[in-house]
Amino acid sequence: MRTIKLGTSTLEVPVIAVGCMRINSLSKSEAERFVRTALDEGANFFDHADIYGGGACEEIFADAIQMNDDVREKIILQSKCGIRKGSFDFSKEHILASVDGILKRLKTDYLDVLLLHRPDALVEPEEVAEAFDTLQSSGKVRHFGVSNQKPMQIELLKKYVKQPIVANQLQLSITNATMISNGINVNMENDSAIDRDGSILDYCRLHDITIQPWSPFQYGFFEGVFLGNDKFPELNQKIDEIAAKYNVTNTTIAIAWLLRHPARMQPVIGTMNIERLKDCCKAADVHLTREEWYEIYRAAGNVLP
Ligand SMILES: NC(=O)c1ccc[n+]([C@@H]2O[C@H](COP(=O)([O-])OP(=O)(O)OC[C@H]3O[C@@H](n4cnc5c(N)ncnc54)[C@H](OP(=O)(O)O)[C@@H]3O)[C@@H](O)[C@H]2O)c1
Repeated sequence: MRTIKLGTSTLEVPVIAVGCMRINSLSKSEAERFVRTALDEGANFFDHADIYGGGACEEIFADAIQMNDDVREKIILQSKCGIRKGSFDFSKEHILASVDGILKRLKTDYLDVLLLHRPDALVEPEEVAEAFDTLQSSGKVRHFGVSNQKPMQIELLKKYVKQPIVANQLQLSITNATMISNGINVNMENDSAIDRDGSILDYCRLHDITIQPWSPFQYGFFEGVFLGNDKFPELNQKIDEIAAKYNVTNTTIAIAWLLRHPARMQPVIGTMNIERLKDCCKAADVHLTREEWYEIYRAAGNVLP
């Protein structure tokens, strides 16, 4: 599997991250087969969060991969904290307690990457900085990042946090590409020009923060999968046509479209289907042409100015 450096760190990560949010839909033997296949494909970067399955996803994963020191060395583990029932919480106390819970459930003594899951309106960046220092000096967390944050929120954190922010996990798919569209439609009167994220794409490129697109196959907020969906006839026709040309599936092309962006993103895939997992991994070796990338973008209903 092709790798990239995560943010400004020296950590080499596969370009495809395996999201474990849905692993609790698998039986024990299916989960074992799933993680084994991921490792066989070179997809050894696993994305978790303390809230997935109420903590069950991390436990199921640790059992499925039969976590021990030997296994731990061969994989890269990322998890997230900061979402509570009905609120968000970036307090020092909550971050530290969350990481202890994560480590226990994942049966490990360190995380490669910890992300703050979703912005907390009541964030005190000084407290986040103290939490990160404690986690780093105790060896519990090696790298730090955020999720769903815009540039000014990251800047606020950076005023106090010493550790580099290596990743920002953001919603991004072919049908949910507002962060790309607003850069194409600067200052236009159409809706695509609306800057919903403070130009996060350019900000992350400027600061070498790896964007991890989440839900790469979904449209809307978990409304469904756009591939093979009657709501997107033109898009599916175009993706199928390009898939046939490369002799791969539509799944591969949907991920290849994200990987073609020069921001060097690391999509977080959510499939629990072994064949689709392999198809996603194949995308690491497909390099779409500039024309194909724009054809797919336009087929999704995006209009160039
Ligand atoms: N940071 C955040 O706020 C945030 C939010 C959401 C998710 N995440 C992370 O991102 C990961 C991915 O999210 P996601 O699971 O929503 O992403 P996704 O990969 O877009 O969606 C996966 C779901 O779509 C289905 N699917 C994919 N392709 C399909 C196809 N061609 N036909 C039919 N069904 C298809 C999968 O079913 P099968 O299993 O049957 O393939 C699975 O149920 C999560 O695991 C999590 O790690 C982060």
